[in-house]
Amino acid sequence: MSTSPVTVDVRLDRDALRLALERDARAGLLATPKTLASVWFYDDVGSDLFDQITRLDEYYPTRAERALLVEHADEIAVASKAVTLVELGAGTCSKTPILLDALVATGALRHYVAVDVAEATLVEATNSLAKSYPDLDVTATVGDFLHLDGLFAHEGPVLVAFLGGTIGNLEPAARHKFFADLDAQLAHADSFLLGCDLVKDRERLLRAYDDRAGVTAAFNRNVLGVLNRELGANFDVGAFEHVALFDEDHQWIEMRLRATSPQHVTITQLGIELTFEQGEEMRTEISAKFTPEGIAGELDLGGFVMDHQLGAEHGEFLLTLAHPYC
Ligand code: SAH
Ligand code: TRP
Repeated sequence: MSTSPVTVDVRLDRDALRLALERDARAGLLATPKTLASVWFYDDVGSDLFDQITRLDEYYPTRAERALLVEHADEIAVASKAVTLVELGAGTCSKTPILLDALVATGALRHYVAVDVAEATLVEATNSLAKSYPDLDVTATVGDFLHLDGLFAHEGPVLVAFLGGTIGNLEPAARHKFFADLDAQLAHADSFLLGCDLVKDRERLLRAYDDRAGVTAAFNRNVLGVLNRELGANFDVGAFEHVALFDEDHQWIEMRLRATSPQHVTITQLGIELTFEQGEEMRTEISAKFTPEGIAGELDLGGFVMDHQLGAEHGEFLLTLAHPYC
């Protein structure tokens, strides 16, 4: 069997990533209250911890989304007629084969492009996919899905998949910009498959972000390890506890790290000193939960026409297939 090698397209090299981390860390940690952008969770350790989260009993989104993909992949493939699948925030590509099988079966699919900031995870995942799909041209694009310019310069029609509920990790203004930017990059014949988590029983939501085994807590705290390693910070990782709450006003899960005792932190490579009072909380992530009507409205504002909404009747997770108005 001849396997064509994966093309690795690095749009964000180590230096660019590092500059972005410095900028984000400086802005977030000097703000009141302190915050950190979520993209920094996904170093090698973080990507591995996230992979463990997706297999936890409490973390229903991955299973729910996979079930919807299995049920509807053929319908999505036929509607999209895709020659190229571009997956944003692809990570370990664990659900990708469901889409690829259906798209290959239509006879049209030729290219798969996986986009993620987590280079090692992405390259490993796409190499293994390339072995399973020897006739497919596979590209691993190391890049930021908030900078979409030129990502879709592939043979159309293009199907863009953005799964995992990652859209919920963006704040409303950033979400709107993301949809509008994406719409501007796509042609009328292209389509967009979006997976988002639905508002549901609060206890169930919270358990998905605060599991008994503490994997989510470890994932959350790992971001301090990233700052220690990359920026020469000296966070005492064990002095911060994981907090997850549901913000009713914003309809999002909020993840925080709370200092269990007063902390003094030096971030050598930024030349800044920070103090945390005992009990002080730093926001590390939001995960917005949607209603089918709400996400349809946001897509409409971003310039998309909705073709299918899948899963609304189960109330667990939602897949929306849409295409640009023009
Ligand atoms: N799609 C997978 C992974 C979801 S986790 C799933 O459904 O299970 C979110 C993924 O998005 C991670 O792999 C992370 O590295 C990536 N990611 C987060 N912010 C990103 C950004 N700004 N640009 C590109 N990738 C990003
Ligand atoms: N996209 C995932 C979600 O919102 C990311 C995620 C899951 C996450 N668990 C987390 C992010 C815990 C930070 C902390 O469900």
